[in-house]
Formats: sequence, structure tokens, C-alpha cells
Amino acid sequence: MVDAPVPISPAETDAIFRVENLSKIYRSGNNQLAIFEGLNFEVTRGERLALVGESGAGKSTLLHLLGGLDRPSNGTIYYFSKDISVLGDSELAQFRNQEIGFVWQIHYLLPEFTALENVMMPLLIRGTSHAEAASASQSRLEEVGLGGRAGHRAGELSGGEQQRVVLARALVGNPSVLLADEPTGNLDYRTGEMIFELLTTLHRSHQLTSILVTHNWSFARKCDRVLRLEGGVLVPGLPNGVQPDARKEYL
Ligand SMILES: Nc1ncnc2c1ncn2[C@@H]1O[C@H](COP(=O)(O)OP(=O)(O)O)[C@@H](O)[C@H]1O
Ligand SMILES: [Mg+2]
Repeated sequence: MVDAPVPISPAETDAIFRVENLSKIYRSGNNQLAIFEGLNFEVTRGERLALVGESGAGKSTLLHLLGGLDRPSNGTIYYFSKDISVLGDSELAQFRNQEIGFVWQIHYLLPEFTALENVMMPLLIRGTSHAEAASASQSRLEEVGLGGRAGHRAGELSGGEQQRVVLARALVGNPSVLLADEPTGNLDYRTGEMIFELLTTLHRSHQLTSILVTHNWSFARKCDRVLRLEGGVLVPGLPNGVQPDARKEYL
């Protein structure tokens, strides 16, 4: 079990996230739905963690909490030594903008804007000049193999290309953490594999800490570590019958 780890002070650990006694309970009227209660775990800086579990298990909820898009009902999320669960709205927005890159199953690009303009958004929100934002965004698009499509409208790109734009947008602000929620869930098998390989390359080249929610065991078993969210608790490791992929270092 991952619950109740030996407490470690931030100075003694490489933990980028340290989650203590985390609960998320949705309330509506007199009803309450506990998604998980009392989760304890750490994420090591630089690791690639796969988060798996059945639909409705709470994977997206957990990712939203780590990325500061939602607040815990109880418990604490330390980002290094900073407790993000007590940040005010604007501090939390700043944390998200500076530290976290998000990738979702649905791309959330603005279809009428060009690929370049979509990638520029996080930098413009941050107050970066237009010229600097455009130059950084062009570089990121080149990194994901879309340098030649910068001027194309996002709505005119294929699903795989749109997900590449999303990766460029997620990384344009140089985040430390990449949170990817079923990033290949809407793609065909081969395109999904290409996106996973790109995630692998970018994880290394940007020295990211990555958390990947996936239903795909062939992706999960290539990650450094797997956590399964089952019945409101986190269970480490692959389930019986699924072996780690020995080739992961070659991807
Ligand atoms: N804003 C919300 N209000 C109430 N229930 C919610 C809300 N968001 C998610 N849920 C519920 O929380 C559970 C976990 O959802 P989610 O984190 O999306 O699961 P997963 O990503 O593992 O499929 C589901 O039962 C879902 O219906
Ligand atoms: Mg989900």
C-alpha cells in the first residue's frame, strides 16, 4: 500500500509533490460522494508516473488537485515545500501557469486561431511580449514536428497534429510538471503511439516530472512507476499478468 508512508521532510527528499491525507468529497444537497479519502503518496522529481484505474475512479480529480485546478476537501498537497492547498485563487493560477503543463484527452484548442497563436496563449497570459511569445512558440512547434504548420488554423489540423500543438502549448512556459489526462484516448492506435513517444522525448529533453493517466497498459508499463486508483485507494505497481516493458529505455 502507498498509504501512510514514513514522513520525510522536504529537505531530505526529491519529492516534487508530497500528498498527505488527501480527500475529495463532492457534496450536492444532503448527498456526498467520497471519491477518495486519506491518500498519501509522493512524486519524485524527474520521474514519469502512470496513473491508471477504471473510469470514474477519480484519476482526473486527482490530476486536477495536483495541478491546482481544484481544491482538496481535506489534506495537503506540497509542491516542494509549498502547500498549494492553501493558496489563494490568484496564487494558484500563477502556480498553474508557471509550474504545470496540461494535456487533456480533448484538445481545448481555439479552432479559429492558428497553431502558433494557440501555443502563444499561456505566455501572453503571463505578460510575455508578443514577439518573444511568437518566437518561443515557433521553437516548441518545431520540437513537436509542426514547425511548418504554425500558420494553419488549429481546426484544420488532424487529431494527432492537434495533440502535438497541445504538447507545444503545454511546454511553452517551461513548466516543471506535465500532467497528461488520457492524452491518446481520442487517437487511433498508431497516432497514439506517436504521441506517447513524443511525450517520452519531451519528458527527457525538458527534464519534466510527468504524470500520465492512461488506459493503455503498453504505455503504463513503460513508465517509471505505476499507481492504480482503485476503490478510493492507491495501489502501487502493475496488476498481475502485466509485466514492465524492458525496452522502455529505448523509447
Ligand atoms: N464536479 C463534480 N461534481 C460531482 N461529482 C463529480 C464531479 N467531478 C467528478 N465527479 C465524480 O467523481 C468521480 C470521479 O471522476 P473522475 O475523476 O473524472 O474519474 P476518472 O478520471 O477516473 O474517470 C465520478 O463518479 C464523477 O462522476
Ligand atoms: Mg478522467
